[in-house]
Amino acid sequence: MRQKVEITIDGKIVELPVLEAAAGRNVVDVRGLIAEGIYTFDPGFLSTASCESRITYIDGEAGVLTYRGYPIEQLAEESSFLEVCYLLLEGELPSETQLSSFVQDISARMPIDDQFKHIFDGFTEKAHPMSMLCAAIAGLASLYHDDLDIKNAAHRRESAMQLIAKTPTLAAMTYRKSIGAKFIEPDPELGYAENFLNMCFGEPGKPSSVSSTLSDAMDRIFILHADHEQNASTSTVRLAGSTEADPYAAVAAGIAALWGPSHGGANEAVLDVLNEIGDESRVQEYVDKAKDKNDPFKLMGFGHRVYKNFDPRAKVMQASCHAVLHEQGADNDPLLKMAMQLEKIAREEEYFIDRKLYPNIDFYSGITFKAMGIPTNMFTALFVLGRMPGWIAHWDEMLSAPFKIGRPRQLYLGPTKRDYVAIDRR
Ligand code: SDX
Repeated sequence: MRQKVEITIDGKIVELPVLEAAAGRNVVDVRGLIAEGIYTFDPGFLSTASCESRITYIDGEAGVLTYRGYPIEQLAEESSFLEVCYLLLEGELPSETQLSSFVQDISARMPIDDQFKHIFDGFTEKAHPMSMLCAAIAGLASLYHDDLDIKNAAHRRESAMQLIAKTPTLAAMTYRKSIGAKFIEPDPELGYAENFLNMCFGEPGKPSSVSSTLSDAMDRIFILHADHEQNASTSTVRLAGSTEADPYAAVAAGIAALWGPSHGGANEAVLDVLNEIGDESRVQEYVDKAKDKNDPFKLMGFGHRVYKNFDPRAKVMQASCHAVLHEQGADNDPLLKMAMQLEKIAREEEYFIDRKLYPNIDFYSGITFKAMGIPTNMFTALFVLGRMPGWIAHWDEMLSAPFKIGRPRQLYLGPTKRDYVAIDRR
């Protein structure tokens, strides 16, 4: 029997249907409230489902994450990032032929138009990679906007391929710009993650010397970051996309949202905190600061809007972190030791236990990136690289069915109507 809820508004009983989920929580469909002259109120959308989706499912209490039904642990272990991109976009795992053709299509789109490379001339070497990457992705619209019909599924797929293909090349260019080095062209013979690392750390004209441990770890890290249902940056891409804005512009809006330290910028902030703590003897002092309500300090890399259990990605990331540090001969990396002590202490503290604050994906990613030789200010750019297929899959899902422009309402508490007063009478 179809579920419903009843609420009484000014003495009138209003029935609202309950829509059933395939997994997780059902939702109360409140669209009928408009006719009853009342809104729902949910700042920060803690208990609001903004859309239907079939892409990613998270069970925050159980610490479960699946992409198109496949558990993140299995994908991280068995799959590859480009296969996960295909899965997120198409909804099914590819056959060998489909994957091979997809990989070639992405590789063919990785090079950046020579004229477009001049976008980086406008930045100084001090520019933050995220500011350059946000501008460059928005700038891609200048190459494709005129021929793009977002109502055409084939055009949307082409935008997806361009974004997945060009983001590693542009991200590597932001790094090369920041060290005043020449850009390195993508190498069609290299895998996606190895190509990115070579474009960052390679030598122009020389074959790649990227180790398979590092490229495998980076590929796995991209898988872990690939999607996460309606997080702040994905919701930003959906909202921007709901105005029928250009997909490159909508994704650039998502990059801007991701940059915040409460979201994707946390991986960079974790390193800043660990460097500020400086020594294992000061870890407790900072855990106490995080607990102090009068201190705005938050323990970056801890807590999550949805996960009230271990972030399943953090567990996989921790394993990658150890593998990379071991390969780099840095098993006793002081930052990792400090991080592990921080995690141990925090998880024994009532404050963290009561609030179900666990390490999230950003807690170990920063240490892993640092061990891979990635500069701290590039960490969030790597998150962009990983999250690109998720953003574009949600954008495509929204445009593949009837949708409305996103336009929330408000609870108005400002001055009620009053007449203008001439300046000589105020
Ligand atoms: C990502 O949404 C996603 O899916 C995001 C993401 C993705 O893949 O897209 O998973 C990626 O953004 C991970 C989160 C990265 N951010 C951080 O690590 C920054 C540190 N974490 C906090 O800023 C916070 O935990 C948030 C922003 C992640 C979640 O904030 P919420 O859900 O709004 O929770 P809240 O701020 O209401 O916290 C509840 C309580 C509060 O205390 P009380 O008022 O109840 O006494 O927990 C406290 C908070 O003060 N708290 C923390 C804390 N996080 C929450 N206290 C100290 N340190 C922290 N990190």
